[in-house]
Amino acid sequence: MSFFIAGTGSAIPDLTVDNYSFEKILDTSDEWITTRTGIKTRKFISDDNLTKIASLSAQNALDNAQVSKDELDLIICATLQGDYIMPSLACLVQKDIGANCPAFDINAACTGFIYALDLADSYFKAGKAQNILIICAEQMSKFLDFSDRSTCVLFGDGAGAVALKKGDGLKYIDIAAQGDFEDLYISGARNNMPFADKNTENQNGYVKMNGQNIFKFAVSTVTQDIKKALKKNKLKSQDIKYYLLHQANQRILETSQSFLKEPSDKFPKNLQTLGNTSAASIPILLDELNRANKISKGDLLLLSAFGGGKTAGTAIIQWSY
Ligand code: UT7
Repeated sequence: MSFFIAGTGSAIPDLTVDNYSFEKILDTSDEWITTRTGIKTRKFISDDNLTKIASLSAQNALDNAQVSKDELDLIICATLQGDYIMPSLACLVQKDIGANCPAFDINAACTGFIYALDLADSYFKAGKAQNILIICAEQMSKFLDFSDRSTCVLFGDGAGAVALKKGDGLKYIDIAAQGDFEDLYISGARNNMPFADKNTENQNGYVKMNGQNIFKFAVSTVTQDIKKALKKNKLKSQDIKYYLLHQANQRILETSQSFLKEPSDKFPKNLQTLGNTSAASIPILLDELNRANKISKGDLLLLSAFGGGKTAGTAIIQWSY
């Protein structure tokens, strides 16, 4: 017995930045960004902070699941970094929502949601939890070099959350990592220790990416992982109601779609309005579908993500309410 998703939530920052805004500061164009990525706008945190949108998404998920803060056994936040390095974002959310349970962050880059689900699965199976809250919240704008056109146009900020209850909704989960950093990384920047020479080369704290290598990794990983998940569960591609794939590039979604020979409406998208929100992209998608009443009891959802590390993860979840 593991879990089912009992409720979803999300929160999106107010500031909308369209592709034309980047034309004013960089040698780029709406035409390039749209045709190469599918992204038209993204949302950035301006007046708020990450804790605020993470907490809002968390409260939305609890309300949607009709789970009270007092019933929570664990809070897991998947994030590259919260507003503070310490305390964790999970502890800040815990304070905001008034919960009283263990809380910690994990970082599996854009695959964070699947890793958090895998961790939650273990807690439920070990009998250590009845209710777990997962929040995926990212402030990518803090890690973007706005003079680097090859990365800064791709990402956005946002938060998505799920409330999990003990149950039978999880049908399959598989996570992986390759121990690789060169194609996608954000370096740490601070070291003021005066007793040794420091190598601060490239230590600027911004996203660095070899886009083509990550693109190839994404396409091969997602297609292979989906194939493996379907085979292991004796499912055909048409048995899945929705494929919720990490929202990095429209062309990655299209490649997966043509590989599976499934219609495009089975591949929900939010990258055109939100950009790549890293770990938050799949839970935000899930919340959008749930709130639009597009998921029914018994539907099978296949989730697949990839990201820095290089990490990857795939899950099949049956909707249970
Ligand atoms: O969630 C994290 C995972 N990240 C991803 O999954 C990203 C995966 N990669 C991608 O989505 C794509 O590789 C990108 C969208 C990042 C880049 O698209 P691409 O088709 O692979 O372009 P490219 O890197 O091969 O660059 C083609 C050209 C280059 O110019 P030259 O060398 O051909 O003259 C780039 O300098 O496009 C240029 N370019 C741009 N031009 C206008 C790169 N960025 C831009 C830009 N505007 N913003």
